[in-house]
Amino acid sequence: MAITVEKPGPGGLNEAVEALREWQSEGAAWQIHPGDLGWFWRSGAEATAAAVRIWRRDGRILAVGLLDGADLLRVTTAPDVRRDEELARRMAEDVIEPERGVLPPGEAAVEAPMDALLQELLPRHGWHAGEPWTPLSLDLAEPVKAPDLRIETIGPDNCHVWADVMRGAFDGSTFTPDKWRTMATGAPYADSRYLVGYDERGDAVAAVAVWSAGVGKPGILEPMGVHRDHRGHGHGRAITLAAAAALRELGSSSAGVNTPSSNVAAVATYESGGFRRLPEVRDLARDA
Ligand SMILES: CC(C)(COP(=O)(O)OP(=O)(O)OC[C@H]1O[C@@H](n2cnc3c(N)ncnc32)[C@H](O)[C@@H]1OP(=O)(O)O)[C@@H](O)C(=O)NCCC(=O)NCCS
Repeated sequence: MAITVEKPGPGGLNEAVEALREWQSEGAAWQIHPGDLGWFWRSGAEATAAAVRIWRRDGRILAVGLLDGADLLRVTTAPDVRRDEELARRMAEDVIEPERGVLPPGEAAVEAPMDALLQELLPRHGWHAGEPWTPLSLDLAEPVKAPDLRIETIGPDNCHVWADVMRGAFDGSTFTPDKWRTMATGAPYADSRYLVGYDERGDAVAAVAVWSAGVGKPGILEPMGVHRDHRGHGHGRAITLAAAAALRELGSSSAGVNTPSSNVAAVATYESGGFRRLPEVRDLARDA
């Protein structure tokens, strides 16, 4: 039977989240995580559904993609079809041809696991390696060192604190408590935790969200930041340790994160928290 690509209908988003959960495993190549959908959910279920693409054969979900921005598709496949030629050919056509409704014409990029066959097909059509990213990972078999910040877990009542720190950490961030509450309506929310770190003066200085994919599977940090007025005091390291401890409590096998290699401060912060650098990964890009 032919492979099809679709936007999820009602209920289809949960199926996509479930597939992404199932496909996470220790040692697998870096790939989109249910937490990425969870974080995208701050824009609402409708926007998330509009940004998701699902490839199927015989009703079975083979691949899930998220348009994370208008021209970036982040996509992964079920582990057993990473090298499936029919799927890779179909996905390549779908991302190349704008009329398929996956990516717009002109400048575009695809993030796919480095071992996916799609990685080999797109360069034959003129796509080239994009900006390098550095994935990092911390094994959670052993307990994590205690952070030297007072950590508070965030819920609906104090989500404004988390939102304030995020806006103070990321230039151009428009995050609001309303977006937090919207995010909390998403299916991945049940597997997430939001933390804020307070310094000795009681100021909220650092914040992070963590997303589990279930017990025994890798979890991720997304996003993590320190308020710009409070950098350089070890708070990035502390909130990273707190995030790893929260994922350990949720049963995650490791804590992972992916950051542009050019974000030297972030890479240094994760390494300072004991995270191990993995080989760089690159998007595949098409010029305008
Ligand atoms: C990255 C960030 C969290 C660092 O926060 P911070 O509180 O200043 O970091 P810390 O003081 O805990 O420093 C941790 C380590 O990183 C190093 N570091 C921090 N900023 C650095 C920089 N600009 N260049 C090089 N190293 C840096 C520190 O020297 C320290 O290393 P050490 O433990 O070996 O001494 C902060 O700059 C930030 O919020 N940036 C914007 C958001 C962001 O990029 N988040 C990560 C996205 S994945």
